Amino acid sequence: MIKKILWAVMASLVFFFSTGVAPASAVELTEATRTVTLDTAGQKTTLSTQQVASGQRLFNLQCTKCHLQGKTKTNNNVSLGLEDLAGAEPARDNLVALVDYLQNPTSYDGVDSLTELHPNTSRPDIFPELKNVTKDDLKNLAGYMLIAPRLDERWGGTIYF
Ligand code: HEC
Repeated sequence: MIKKILWAVMASLVFFFSTGVAPASAVELTEATRTVTLDTAGQKTTLSTQQVASGQRLFNLQCTKCHLQGKTKTNNNVSLGLEDLAGAEPARDNLVALVDYLQNPTSYDGVDSLTELHPNTSRPDIFPELKNVTKDDLKNLAGYMLIAPRLDERWGGTIYF
């Protein structure tokens, strides 16, 4: 009897490990997954897996405290989901616009400057945590934000308290 149970356990373990769901980080990023919209003209650009990883690392380090899973603490209406990014003025659902936001953030309607309120690289006096962040880092970060909805279906949207 015990032998039988052991065999059952072994068999299910083998089954689990051979078909088991791979952790998200191990998901292979295909070229299609790594290709994002570059600008408002709709041009495309493809990030390398290293660039995506580097963007994700920086995002986890500097942004998740307010934007865990692409949601936005204190302002549910301005998430990092593609729909919200597209609805901003000017639209932010492309790499160039996101890099620009991280240099000179503006309000959702584009009217007010948020450089003193939202982390950005133009004001290292107020946001020293981004002092050493280069333009390439910003590109990786922007690219990651555009790819993230493909990696996590819960990305963006509303925080439910
Ligand atoms: C202290 C909290 C905080 C941190 C840290 C933070 N953000 Fe934000 N972020 C916000 C808030 C609040 C808004 C909404 C601003 C508004 O009212 O327009 C926002 C808006 C944004 C938007 C515009 C979203 C849209 O739909 O238009 C982007 C893009 C963004 N943040 C990216 C980042 C990135 C990348 C980082 C890390 C470098 C970061 N944020 C760090 C709080 C934060």
